[in-house]
This record gives sequence, structure tokens and C-alpha cells, in this order.
Amino acid sequence: MTKRLRLIVLLGLAIIFCLTMVFLAINSFSASPWQDWQTKYFQAQIEELQRTMSIVQGEEQVKKLEQEIKAWQDKKPALQVIRLSNGRIERCTTCHLGIEEISAAHPSDSIGCTVCHGGNALSVDEQTAHEGMYGGGHPGQLEVARLSCGGNSEVGQCHSGNRQEADNQVDLLTTALMASKGGELSMTRYMHGLDIPPRVLLDPGETAADFPAPFNQRGEEPKFQQNCLAVCHLTGGELLGQEVQANGCESCHVLSNPQHTYEGKDVTIPRSKSGYGMSHSLTVQIPYTQCNQCHNQGDYKVDTMDFIPRSDLDRVKSSPPPDKESLETRWQNVYSPGLVFTKCEVNLDCVDCHTRQETMGDGEMYSSEWKALKIQCRDCHGSTVSKPIEWEITDKSDMAWVEARINPAFPSLEMGDVILKTAKGEELAYVRQEDGKWFSYRKTNGEKYLIPQVIDSQCRQDPDKQSSDDCHKCHDVSKDKPSSGGE
Ligand code: HEC
Ligand code: HEC
Ligand code: HEC
Ligand code: HEC
Ligand code: HEC
Ligand code: HEC
Ligand code: HEC
Repeated sequence: MTKRLRLIVLLGLAIIFCLTMVFLAINSFSASPWQDWQTKYFQAQIEELQRTMSIVQGEEQVKKLEQEIKAWQDKKPALQVIRLSNGRIERCTTCHLGIEEISAAHPSDSIGCTVCHGGNALSVDEQTAHEGMYGGGHPGQLEVARLSCGGNSEVGQCHSGNRQEADNQVDLLTTALMASKGGELSMTRYMHGLDIPPRVLLDPGETAADFPAPFNQRGEEPKFQQNCLAVCHLTGGELLGQEVQANGCESCHVLSNPQHTYEGKDVTIPRSKSGYGMSHSLTVQIPYTQCNQCHNQGDYKVDTMDFIPRSDLDRVKSSPPPDKESLETRWQNVYSPGLVFTKCEVNLDCVDCHTRQETMGDGEMYSSEWKALKIQCRDCHGSTVSKPIEWEITDKSDMAWVEARINPAFPSLEMGDVILKTAKGEELAYVRQEDGKWFSYRKTNGEKYLIPQVIDSQCRQDPDKQSSDDCHKCHDVSKDKPSSGGE
């Protein structure tokens, strides 16, 4: 090779190198991540349509699908803008294209995303956009709920700071046993002889996890922290072997699968990463499985502070979701083996009996579950000497009026309708009197049940013995097969 030729080759290589660099630079600029996320989203839509294509019949159907696929293939990434009712704009959906609408009461096209999440609405860079997000992306965490759920929006004051106490769920929840675990703290200290009688050791907003040395440095202390306080993630602890960041309001209102993984349409969320609800969706239609992410998982030994998982947990976790399960699996899954219950305690969901004040607090700090409980069997069934308490709706400011509108499964409520009021004064908007009979509508699916009344029956109860333990002595259907016990 001559010297000259070598020079030309070198020069050529240098030019190619420069061009490549320029090309790469342009490319990395124009294919910045938000475009990639959109392209991935389009691809996911195409794959979904192709799957449908393989099962549809008929030329017309196929043609329609082909057109839709073509439309997605032709789509070019573009900045997405949400224009809020106050005129401000947000760009989060530029990457989070296709994310589910969080709920009908929180329409994203007028309230946007940052009202709940915080973050930088205008940025299309992942890190900058996410800077300062409440709870690191989990806005229901109790530490940040006052800002996220409790803040104010264009629509007005949200779930804190309202005149009506019942509208301040964020403030109320700071007093709920499930948020503070004040019951576990008080009762275990009592049982270990540290407080007599049991007493509440916390102020609203404090949790048992904040309480220094609950066992006066005894050996049970680390086990109490790990097995009792941390095991359910309402206060920011972790479920055994799982990383769970969704806690606080989310632990009831965002439904999750046992793995806590996301199954929705937003392609940015990794499918295998734990710590999310199944879909971007808030609900008051809470099935028993959600409550049982913490309840009915096993037993606590109060003397040693050990947690013993229920023996059939693996089977329960692999069961189909509540809307697809058979009555038989439901009967096996709801309660730990060996527990005693009546038919309605398993046919209905927890929230069909346990009221909003029981679950979200009533402003009082209690020292045990038994003190916090509101619902009683006789609220629905009456006793041999009493009937349920009737409450007529005469005013639109009635709490029941609002609740009946939030849950789509409730039958419509009219002025003059008669609903049930508990002995402790809470309205159950889904328990109705119709033609002199009492009916309960399930919160998760609207299914209607007649509530049998004790007063009309052969029931042999003592009207002064009204705890569920008293009733379970005769009404134990846990051994029944669903075919003989269910309907
Ligand atoms: C440049 C693209 C991009 C933009 C813009 C963006 N995000 Fe994200 N976001 C992502 C990605 C990617 C993830 C998944 C991160 C991961 O893998 O954990 C994510 C995750 C999240 C999460 C879940 C947090 C978690 O712990 O995983 C939330 C909540 C969220 N984003 C909200 C927002 C909000 C609100 C905005 C607007 C202020 C926004 N995002 C703007 C790309 C973006
Ligand atoms: C009413 C409050 C609210 C609004 C409005 C809202 N989100 Fe969320 N978002 C939540 C809650 C609650 C979660 C559940 C967090 C969890 O699972 O830990 C969540 C979770 C997410 C996640 C994680 C994936 C998931 O579903 O868990 C992303 C991403 C996200 N939001 C983005 C957005 C975007 C983008 C918008 C605007 C279009 C938006 N959010 C509007 C409350 C809201
Ligand atoms: C994140 C875990 C968690 C979830 C989810 C959860 N609970 Fe609880 N719950 C607890 C703990 C822990 C206690 C005991 C608290 C104590 O005694 O300190 C409790 C106590 C209760 C009590 C008795 C005390 C009281 O406050 O009335 C009722 C009733 C109850 N839960 C019902 C429910 C229902 C209904 C749901 C579903 C809508 C639910 N729980 C979801 C953890 C949870
Ligand atoms: C332990 C479960 C649980 C937790 C935690 C929880 N909720 Fe609720 N929430 C319920 C139940 C049960 C209802 C009643 C549903 C019904 O009556 O149909 C409810 C109802 C609501 C309603 C509808 C109006 C009403 O008061 O009935 C709002 C709003 C609400 N919750 C907000 C919140 C907020 C905000 C948080 C967090 C600060 C939160 N919830 C935490 C269980 C829970
Ligand atoms: C048919 C109504 C009904 C259903 C359904 C129901 N409960 Fe209860 N529950 C009660 C009543 C009534 C009491 C109070 C017992 C008493 O007064 O002796 C109670 C007591 C409790 C207690 C405190 C005492 C204890 O036994 O630990 C907890 C916790 C609890 N229920 C959780 C749940 C959970 C979780 C679910 C769903 C898996 C559920 N309940 C379903 C009616 C119901
Ligand atoms: C929210 C209202 C409500 C509460 C509270 C409630 N029940 Fe029921 N109960 C019902 C409904 C509805 C039915 C009929 C549905 C069914 O068959 O499951 C029923 C049915 C029954 C039956 C007849 C079942 C059979 O075998 O034919 C008994 C017995 C009973 N309940 C006992 C109890 C006991 C004990 C408690 C307290 C632990 C209780 N109920 C709390 C609503 C309630
Ligand atoms: C000493 C036994 C005994 C005790 C305790 C008892 N019951 Fe009964 N109960 C019966 C018998 C027997 C019947 C009639 C047979 C039947 O319908 O199952 C009955 C019937 C009922 C019915 C009507 C069922 C129907 O299908 O019409 C209800 C509701 C009921 N009991 C609720 C309760 C509640 C709530 C308690 C606790 C406060 C209770 N019972 C305590 C024995 C008992």
C-alpha cells in the first residue's frame, strides 16, 4: 500500500467515525426516553389488537382491526398536554400514556396528576418530573396524605380541613387503630403486665412504631416490632418478604394482587416490581381479599410475640380473585382454618358490616379492638325483643345521600327512603327497608340479600347476650359445605 493510499483510507475512516458520532448524537437527542415510552405503548396496543385478531371471525371484523393496527403503526410520538380547569398545563401523560383514570370523582382532565402526586408538571425528563413527588410516588402514605389526599384543588378542599368532620378522612385516619396500631400496643403491654388497665399510649398521628421500647427492653421487643407492628404495611412497615410501599389510604382503596404488582396499561411500570396496586384506580368497593392482605393471615402468640402464618396461605394466595372464585373457595379462603363464623360473615364482604368509622376512625383513640368496634349483630338482625333502627332520609346533607352516590353498586336513594342506623349512630346507606322487610346490598357488586330477623324466628338467644361469641355458640356454619350453607 502506498503512503498516499494509506492516508486516504485513514481520512475516510475518520470521516465515517465523525458522521457516526454526529448521527448517534442526533439520534440520542431525538429518541429521548419519552418517545421510547410512547413507542412502547403503541407497540403494546398493536400486540393487543393482534391477539384479538387471532380470535375474531368475519372479514369485516378483521378489516376493522387491520385499520386500527395501521393507525397505531402510523402514530408518531408527540408531547401530551393536560389542560386543567385553572388553565395550567401538565405533561406527565407524555410518558404515562394510557394510564387508567384514577376514579370518576377525580377526573384527570380537570384536576391533573400533580394535585395528588406532586412533582414537576412541565418536565418531560423522568428524574426532574418525579422530583418531590409525595411519598416517592405513593401518595396515600400517611406521612404525606395531608398534602396529597388532604390538600386543596380547583374543586375545593379535599379530604382534610373541611367543616364537616366526616369529610376529613385524612385527619380521622390518624386516630384509627389500623393506622396507629394503638390496640396492639396497649393490649400486648397489658398482657405482659406493663399497664393495668390497658391504656392508649399514643396521640393522634403517632403510630406504635414510634413508641420507644414498648417492652422495657425485654427480649420480646424485636419480635413485637417485626411480627406485630411491621407485618401489615399501613404504617410503613413491610409485609414479610415483600417490598410494599403502597400503604395508608392505598392499603384499602387501591386494590392489589397478592404480589402487589401492576397489571394496567401504563408501560412505564415494570410488571414484575412489587409495590403497586393492580391498576391506577381508587375504589370504595373493597372486597374481603383487600382486608385480608393483613387480616386472617395467621395467628399471633401473645406470650412469645411469634407470628404463625395460617397453614393454607399458599393455596389462598393462588386462588382466583373474589369476582371469579367459587362459593366453596370463598368459604375456605375468608377465615383462617378453625375459626367459627356465621353464613353472613363469609357470604358478605368485610365492608358490608364494618363501617366507615371502624375502618377510618372516629376521632377517638382506643386501647383495643373491642373498644373501637361499632357494628353489632343486632344492628341488622335485631334481637328477640328489638328490631333494627329505622332512619328516614329527609335531607340532602345526610351522609348517606353522599355515600350512595360514591358507590355505583348502591341502589338509587330517594327522599323518604328508610335506611338502617346502627345503635352507635352510623347510617348504613346500603341497608334498606322495603315493604317492611330489611335488605342489604353488597358494596362490591350490588347483590341483594334479605336480612332474616330474630324477632320473627325460632332463635333461642338470650337478648342480653349479644356478642358474636354468644351467637357463634349456636350459629357456626364453618363446617357446612357451601351447597348446604350458601345459596
Ligand atoms: C420521561 C418520562 C416520564 C415523565 C415525564 C413522568 N414519568 Fe412518572 N414514571 C416514568 C417511569 C419510566 C416510571 C417507572 C419507574 C420505575 O421503573 O420504577 C415512572 C413511575 C412513576 C410513578 C410510580 C412511582 C414508583 O415508585 O414506581 C408515579 C406515581 C409517577 N411516575 C408519576 C408521574 C407524574 C405525576 C408525572 C408528572 C409530574 C410523571 N410521572 C412524569 C416516566 C415518566
Ligand atoms: C386522586 C389522586 C390521584 C390522581 C389525580 C392521580 N393519581 Fe396516580 N396514583 C394515585 C394513587 C393513590 C396511586 C397508587 C400508588 C400505589 O400503588 O402505591 C397512584 C399511582 C400512580 C402510578 C404508579 C402505577 C400505579 O397505578 O400504581 C403512576 C405511574 C401514576 N399514579 C401516575 C399518574 C398520572 C400520570 C396521573 C395524571 C393523569 C395521576 N397519576 C393522577 C393517586 C392519583
Ligand atoms: C394494612 C393492614 C390492614 C388492612 C389492609 C386492613 N386492616 Fe383491619 N386491622 C389491621 C390491624 C393491624 C388491626 C389491629 C389494630 C390494633 O389493634 O392496634 C386491625 C383492626 C381492625 C378492626 C378492629 C378495630 C377497629 O378499628 O374497628 C376491624 C373491624 C378491621 N380491622 C376491619 C378491616 C376492614 C373491614 C378492612 C378492609 C376494608 C381492613 N380492616 C383492612 C390491619 C389492617
Ligand atoms: C382500613 C381501610 C381503609 C383505609 C386505610 C382508608 N379507608 Fe376510606 N373507606 C374505607 C371504607 C370501608 C369506606 C366506606 C365505604 C362505603 O361506605 O361504601 C371508605 C370510604 C371513603 C370515602 C368515601 C366517603 C366516605 O367517607 O364514606 C373517602 C373519600 C375515603 N374513604 C377516603 C380515604 C382517605 C383519604 C384515606 C387515607 C387518609 C382512607 N380513606 C383510608 C376504608 C378505608
Ligand atoms: C356479617 C357481618 C360481618 C362481616 C361480613 C365481617 N365482620 Fe368482623 N365483626 C362483625 C361483628 C358484629 C363484630 C363484633 C363482634 C362482637 O360484637 O362480639 C366483628 C368483629 C371483628 C373484629 C374484632 C374482633 C375479632 O374477632 O378479631 C375484626 C378484626 C373483624 N371483625 C374483622 C373483619 C374482617 C377482616 C372481615 C372480612 C374478612 C369481617 N370482619 C367480616 C361483623 C362482621
Ligand atoms: C350488615 C348487616 C348484617 C350484620 C351486621 C350481621 N348480619 Fe347476619 N345476615 C345478614 C344478611 C344479609 C343475611 C342473609 C345473607 C346470607 O344468607 O348470607 C344474614 C344471615 C344471618 C343468619 C342466617 C343464616 C343462615 O344460616 O340461614 C344468621 C344466623 C346470622 N346472619 C347471624 C349473624 C351474626 C351472629 C352476626 C354478628 C356476628 C350477624 N349475623 C351480623 C346481614 C347481617
Ligand atoms: C342457644 C342457641 C342460639 C343462640 C345463642 C343464638 N341463636 Fe339464633 N337461632 C337459633 C335457632 C335454633 C334458630 C332457628 C333455626 C334456624 O333458623 O336456624 C335461630 C335463628 C336465628 C335467625 C333467623 C335465621 C333465619 O334464617 O330465619 C337469626 C337472624 C339469628 N338466629 C341470629 C342470632 C344472633 C344475632 C345471635 C346472637 C345475638 C343468635 N342468633 C344466638 C339458636 C340460637
